Amino acid sequence: MKLWGGRFGKDTDALVNEFNASIQFDQRLYGEDIRGSMAHAEMLMQCGVISREDAEAIIQGLQGILADIEAGTVAFTADNEDIHMNVEALLTSRIGDAGKRLHTARSRNDQVALDFRMYVRNEIGTVVGRLLELETVLCRRAREHQNTVMPGYTHLQRAQPISFAQHLLAYAAMFRRDVTRLEDCRARLNECPLGCGALAGTTYPIDRWRTARALAFDRPVGNSLDGVSDRDYALELLSDLSILMTHLSRFAEEIILWCSWEFKFIELDDAYATGSSIMPQKKNPDVAELVRGKTGRVYGSLMGLLTVMKGLPLAYNKDMQEDKEPVFDALDTVELCLPVFTAMLDTMTVLRSNMRKAAGRGFINATDCADYLTKKGMPFRDAYTAVGKLVAACTEQGQTLEELTLEELRAVSDLFEADVYEALKLENCMALRSSYGGPAVSETTRQIEEIEAFVAAREHD
Ligand code: ARG
Repeated sequence: MKLWGGRFGKDTDALVNEFNASIQFDQRLYGEDIRGSMAHAEMLMQCGVISREDAEAIIQGLQGILADIEAGTVAFTADNEDIHMNVEALLTSRIGDAGKRLHTARSRNDQVALDFRMYVRNEIGTVVGRLLELETVLCRRAREHQNTVMPGYTHLQRAQPISFAQHLLAYAAMFRRDVTRLEDCRARLNECPLGCGALAGTTYPIDRWRTARALAFDRPVGNSLDGVSDRDYALELLSDLSILMTHLSRFAEEIILWCSWEFKFIELDDAYATGSSIMPQKKNPDVAELVRGKTGRVYGSLMGLLTVMKGLPLAYNKDMQEDKEPVFDALDTVELCLPVFTAMLDTMTVLRSNMRKAAGRGFINATDCADYLTKKGMPFRDAYTAVGKLVAACTEQGQTLEELTLEELRAVSDLFEADVYEALKLENCMALRSSYGGPAVSETTRQIEEIEAFVAAREHD
């Protein structure tokens, strides 16, 4: 018979039994469920709701169940619907009546809300850890390439010279925000729903602050209806993971471009690339493509859960059982993508000379040429027009700005002097961009040091 079978006259239909169950996927909450139950039992005892003997039997019984689940000797059953009732039924089968007292002053609604919050809280730590590993690799690679000149792009057109370090550090800045977003989510979710009961709290003299503290929450949730019906933390997590995947996907897209013969800025390590079944020459960036592709599933999880929650009346509704799979899938996806992507970046070869060659074509020093004239007294807008003419002439003749003779330059403005050739050297153009946040070595060094300090502050946590 079902734990809740009292008021029912017949068995659940077999199909409904399967349909209603969540044990197939929520069994991964077993650790949270058992720790939550132990804290609950301890609190019930301290508040005089159950006896010390019962509490001890419950806690010991739960410890045994935890050990057995971890040893792989426990078979869960859909007949007990979910992880919460599987554990409770197992406990009662092992310790008898004391097991039946565990659910006093509690409902599965606050129980599942507790377990899920604890799970999300813990997984945030895992994702943050993987992001910090990625940041470490980005800093290391950036240090190697502070003087590696590449074209910076807008509209995917060569625009101005930057270093490869500056490009990598742009991603490091995004992933740093991802870390703080996840930390914000963790800080906001850290209120304990246990004790909200089914929806309206309880008549027992429970101490919600005690269970909140025991389970490392900052405080209990302040409204019992909200406690059992809030899934904001799951939506926030999925939003944060979606944004994170957006960053990974943009990066993946660039890796894919850079691997192409059209760019050839990088060469992936053979261990992080794949071949074609028919074209012998192919070396494909499958890892980057899959990361880009899997971004879709994470967005899907966010949209799925937003849609589940929309329009639900207070408080708990069974619809909310649909909260877990999208969150699990998104976490699994992100936790898989991050280390593979990090290792791919760690092992790729950067083809400096190809980057430099690409930087040499496309007039990415045209702004610097205009700045040269501006610094000699010409208003910037006039300098801009003058250089525009030079670019047009160069394009026609298949030349670069620095290939023009001084006479040719002076035909446009007599402000040009021999020092213009130094001003047009890409290395100088990049080195002089030392404004705060720019690609000059002094600024990439500052950025690297800031990210490294950010990582170090968290590694000691
Ligand atoms: N398996 C359920 C879930 O995941 C647990 C809560 C069920 N509560 C209820 N009253 N049916 O949401």
